[in-house]
Amino acid sequence: SEVPVLTLDGPSGSGKGTIASRVARTLGWHLLDSGALYRLVALGAARRGIPMEDEAALADYALQMDVVFEVQPDSGEVLAKLDGEAVGDAIRTEQCGNDASKVAALGPVREALLQRQRDFRRPPGLVADGRDMGTTVFPDAGLKIYLTASAEVRAERRYKQLKEKGISASVADLFREIAERDARDTERRSSPLKPATDALVLDTSSLDINQVVDQVLEQCRERF
Ligand code: C5P
Repeated sequence: SEVPVLTLDGPSGSGKGTIASRVARTLGWHLLDSGALYRLVALGAARRGIPMEDEAALADYALQMDVVFEVQPDSGEVLAKLDGEAVGDAIRTEQCGNDASKVAALGPVREALLQRQRDFRRPPGLVADGRDMGTTVFPDAGLKIYLTASAEVRAERRYKQLKEKGISASVADLFREIAERDARDTERRSSPLKPATDALVLDTSSLDINQVVDQVLEQCRERF
C-alpha cells in the first residue's frame, strides 16, 4: 500500500494514546486506537456472557462485532459504538483494560482483528497506536516509534489522570497492575510487546506531552 503509516507502540501509560491523537490531528491523518478494539472485544464478550477462556467464541465475536469510531469534530475525541450502542467510558475502566489484555493474549483473537486493523489504512495517512503496530500489523510502516517510560513514572501519570476524573486509587496498586500488564503483554507468545527492529525508541520518563509530540512530528517531517 502507498498510504503512509506512522506506528506508535509501547506499554500502557507511556502516553501513546494522547500523543497518537494529537499527531493524527496535526497531520490530518486517520487514527487507529488498536487497544480500543481489544477493549471492545472484552466488553462485548462480557456482555454476551462469553467466557474469557473460550478462544473460539471470542475470536468469532472479534470477527463479527460491529464497531464504529466517531471522531468528535470539536475535541478530536473518538467515541466508539459497539453493536449499534455508544459505549462511553465503559471501555476505559481498569477492569476492561485488564480483560482486554487477557483476550489480547489469545492468538485467534489477534488473528481475527488483523484485517480490521489494516482497513484503517486510508489516504492521506494513518497513525496506528498499539503494542504490535510496527512488528505485526504494519511491518512496512514508513516510521515506527516505540514510546517507553519507567513503570514508576507510568503509575504516577495514571494516578494523576484518575485523580483528575475524581477516581481514587493508590500509586502502589497502580504500579502493581502496570507491572502485571507489562509482564502479560511482553511475555505472551502471540505478538509480544517489543520494539520493531527498525523502530526509534523514545523514553518519555522525563518529557512532557508537548515535548514528545514535537519530537514525533519532527521525525514525521523528516520521513514523510
Ligand atoms: O492500549 P490499551 O491500554 O487500550 O490496550 C489494552 C490492552 O490491549 C493492552 O494491555 C494489551 O494487552 C492489548 N493490546 C494489544 N495489542 C495492541 C493494542 C492493545 O495486545 N495492538
